[in-house]
Amino acid sequence: MDRITVNAPAKINLSLDVTGRRPDGYHELRTVFQSIALSDTLTLERLQESGIRLMTDAENVPADEGNLAVRAAMLLFHAFSLPGGLSITLEKRIPVAAGLAGGSADAAGVLYAMNLLYGLEFSRTELEKFALILGSDVPFLLFGGSAYATGRGEALTPLPDLPVLPVILGNPGVPVSTKAVFQAFDERGSEVHPDAEAMAGAFFEEEGEARTKKILSLAGNTLEPVTASLVPAIAAIKAKCLEKGAFPALMSGSGGTVYAVYENAEKAQNSLSELRSEYPDAGWILTSTGIRGIEVI
Ligand code: C5P
Repeated sequence: MDRITVNAPAKINLSLDVTGRRPDGYHELRTVFQSIALSDTLTLERLQESGIRLMTDAENVPADEGNLAVRAAMLLFHAFSLPGGLSITLEKRIPVAAGLAGGSADAAGVLYAMNLLYGLEFSRTELEKFALILGSDVPFLLFGGSAYATGRGEALTPLPDLPVLPVILGNPGVPVSTKAVFQAFDERGSEVHPDAEAMAGAFFEEEGEARTKKILSLAGNTLEPVTASLVPAIAAIKAKCLEKGAFPALMSGSGGTVYAVYENAEKAQNSLSELRSEYPDAGWILTSTGIRGIEVI
């Protein structure tokens, strides 16, 4: 095999609680990760000549080792002295530095694709070990779906699927540094502490509308007031989404994207046009919850 193309989906955090600071400087999390349909597409091609090349259509994305996708490739090249080189073509759709783990999804996509391209035959557990070297949420993004995570976000318990629900993403267009948000959290704390474990438990209840409602009613994000104090547009976008009938409307991860869940496609579509015309300063994307992680296409 010389060439492979994969779709690498983004995630949202249906629930995110920060429960403490760890001796290694990271924070202890309890979170429910949820894949969404919005994805980046990566094509990897083996090259005879050495070196890793990244080509992308996105302007705000580095093409060197500042890019997590390149770092993922370097990690496997160095660890296994792989021959030749690699070209990565990255078609970017996931907003950058936005709480949707776009960079981490690309890194996960490269690990997943290289495992097949070079016939490395790593198991899921082995791939997750490499993934964690690249970032706390990369292990989840390798396999996606719905999962409860603790630790840095890497101790994963897979959850039964959520039905496919329409989701609108509202992005304030201000890049947010995860590190800066956690620092601000250390200084000011947060008055919001959702019960992520209870949400994870609700995933195991009997499938149906009541289960979906219960899961969504437990949504929350400890980091939302923290990032919202740095980026005021987050509160405004959230308020607009709630006004347009979303439930819930919540910031994802360390922000600043707000995701808004809608009951059905028609309500989401109507709301999208109103949001676009009433709040044109935000980037609006219509997507849905997804049940899969990376897929070869
Ligand atoms: O792991 P990752 O590189 O994605 O994390 C980016 C930054 O977010 C870390 O440098 C750290 O400051 C912060 N972080 C944290 N606790 C976590 C995950 C991330 O403090 N569980």
